[in-house]
Amino acid sequence: MSKYIIRGGNKIEGRLDIRGAKNAILPIIAATILNENKSTIHNVPDISDVYVMIKILESIGCKVDYKYGTLVVDSSNINSMEIDEEYVRKMRSSIIVMGAMIGRLDYTKISYPGGCAIGSRPIDLHLKALKQLGIRIEEESGFISCYKDKLVGNTITFEFPSVGATENTILAAVKAKGITKICNAAREPEIEDLQNFLNKMGAKIKGAGTSYIEIEGVDKLHEVEHAVIPDRIAIGTYMVASAMTGGKLEVDRVVVPHMEPICDKLRDVGCEIEYTKEGLILKSPKTIQAIDLVRTAPHPGFPTDMQAQLMALMTLANGTTVFYETIFENRFMHCAELIRLGANIKYITDNICMVKGVNSLHGAKVKSPDLRGGASLVLAALATKGETEVSNIYHVERGYENIENVLRNLGANIYKVEDIDKIKGY
Ligand code: EPZ
Repeated sequence: MSKYIIRGGNKIEGRLDIRGAKNAILPIIAATILNENKSTIHNVPDISDVYVMIKILESIGCKVDYKYGTLVVDSSNINSMEIDEEYVRKMRSSIIVMGAMIGRLDYTKISYPGGCAIGSRPIDLHLKALKQLGIRIEEESGFISCYKDKLVGNTITFEFPSVGATENTILAAVKAKGITKICNAAREPEIEDLQNFLNKMGAKIKGAGTSYIEIEGVDKLHEVEHAVIPDRIAIGTYMVASAMTGGKLEVDRVVVPHMEPICDKLRDVGCEIEYTKEGLILKSPKTIQAIDLVRTAPHPGFPTDMQAQLMALMTLANGTTVFYETIFENRFMHCAELIRLGANIKYITDNICMVKGVNSLHGAKVKSPDLRGGASLVLAALATKGETEVSNIYHVERGYENIENVLRNLGANIYKVEDIDKIKGY
């Protein structure tokens, strides 16, 4: 398995200009299935999850071209109604194509995504919403078959503001007969970006970014061009890298309301953050202040996708911080690895832990447990006095484009050791 070798101690600072948000581009790629036309999408990050979505589109007959950050999809001809199981098992968030497929076709079949490292990741809310739109759903031997006996707008209330369920419902409702009202919708910025993309192709959606979304069904959609929003989680991750190493970071492009839940916590830690014309400047704290409680919550609360990264920072704080992970049931797997680097972390329950700051971390061999957990280990390694080896970095490469080069350009002493067997082609 490939790994990063990181020698800590350098300041991480300079200018950061990174491409669009992973969690925006994935549903937007699914949405290209709907318009039976050409979609041109700019600012697309070069990450492995994007390639899985491209493979899914090609497997059903779409023509896809992706270079220099621009993705062009021609979905005029679909020649398969079924999504190959290997893709959904490889990337569970590909379940997002289900809504788009049944929005366009009379039938589709897709494998249950199954769980992943951070949780069981059920899709009951997705399926309940599709049924409320008139879709007949049959579940058998790990597969879901959707039949569009009818597709009629309805009022749908989520008992939990699920991001994926909100997105799948929007995608299925774009061409439904009548109006669909979603109550207690997820408010994440990536859903707003999906709405803007769909409206540019001729959909009629309003309210994304709030907990009430209305979709008026339309018959025809047309070609579209769009640029994906900046990745608030990737930007937050690099901001923590600078905060942990005494650096100063200038970020070229941000959307202020998307960044505020993260910046609010970084200010509590002692960072100085100033918004510029299009971006922001972060100055590191002299001393990293502990925060009494970090509790993750749906947007605009503190994002669960930044919990592991903030925890890396708090391992060096001047006090104790309690972390309460409320979104996923198993999102503390980075704790054991951070402890190998010298962190002082005590589990209170499965989703509450206490991080007591230490003066310094030391190098060690650690394993990425998942995407954001892996990122937190890279951050901790940058702040250690010594050399750290982070393995299983395929997790990290799912969501961070070229992270070793981005960090090296910001002053990090990091290099990637490719999996020798992969190079030899075993
Ligand atoms: C999206 O996942 C993101 N992924 C996740 O980012 C993010 O952590 C999550 O939203 C929360 O913000 C993408 O956008 C591709 P949910 P999603 O449905 O849609 C429960 C990352 O690191 N739930 O809001 O799967 C579920 O078990 C990834 O970039 C049900 O119970 O998140 C979980 O506890 C990780 N039934 C909670 O809701 C359902 O039908 C949040 O899930 C659906 C969800």
